[in-house]
Amino acid sequence: TSGLTCTLADNGVLRILFNRPEKKNALTIEMYETMISILEQATYSPQVNLVTVSGLGDFFSSGNDFSIFEQTVRNGGNLQDLSIQLLRTVQRFVDALIAFPKILIALVNGPAIGIPVTTLALYDYVIASDKVYFQTPFTQLGVAPEGCSSYTFPLLMGSTKANEILLFNHRLSVNEALSRGLVNVIYKENEFTQQCNLFIRELSELPAEALRYSKKLMRDVERQTLHSVNASECAHLTTRMTSPDFVSAMNNFFKRS
Ligand code: COA
Repeated sequence: TSGLTCTLADNGVLRILFNRPEKKNALTIEMYETMISILEQATYSPQVNLVTVSGLGDFFSSGNDFSIFEQTVRNGGNLQDLSIQLLRTVQRFVDALIAFPKILIALVNGPAIGIPVTTLALYDYVIASDKVYFQTPFTQLGVAPEGCSSYTFPLLMGSTKANEILLFNHRLSVNEALSRGLVNVIYKENEFTQQCNLFIRELSELPAEALRYSKKLMRDVERQTLHSVNASECAHLTTRMTSPDFVSAMNNFFKRS
């Protein structure tokens, strides 16, 4: 019921699956909360060495679930309370990704929009199917970037490209994501699952402790910066989500169906 499925294999691989294909795996507060607690348990469980995240169906994820905003706008409810509640959860979710000490791999099976794109730069390895595209339509929706992307994307891609996608809503093709360093490797859609399994099996044979220490060395350099970027992005987003621009974007999205 939480919209997430989680399975642990013998080789220490914990697989998390977004499981709301009928809503293109849009992320609810409950899904964020479940993911936070899975990552927390995985951190301390000696049985878990690495974690993969993927989506069921044709999408990886369509980002924040807008339906809570629709209900609130429709019922004349308090948008400020709702955005504070959502962004508190989102901040803790992104903090959990920043802090996760074991290897975290994204298996991007389909298109991704919003926070599932921005947080990719916090994973250790990103595999994408050749049918994937990435979109971050924040300004179009009257909001602003999250997932630490205001820091990680210019660093990864250079500000010229980061401006195109974070300010001007350009769609990023999977090939461009590869050449810009957001994606490590692309597999063909019909071989995606098989190739991912092969790769994960090889990785699960590497010494887990050595991986963890190596990750720690790299993450420690920018850990505090990432946490503070996250805090500041979430503070801005809380304000943006009560703006007339966002309310009108929500009305347009739910009017069309
Ligand atoms: N929040 C809530 N519901 C969402 C959603 C979201 N982010 N994304 C998709 N859905 C729902 C749709 O409302 C629809 O529900 P319905 O069947 O009850 O009407 C269902 O998922 C299927 O989506 P639909 O739009 O019919 O499919 P599509 O293939 O035409 O388009 C998307 C898919 C993802 C491109 C489109 O739904 C979309 O643009 N979603 C918003 C993405 C977004 O802006 N995310 C946040 C970025 S910050």
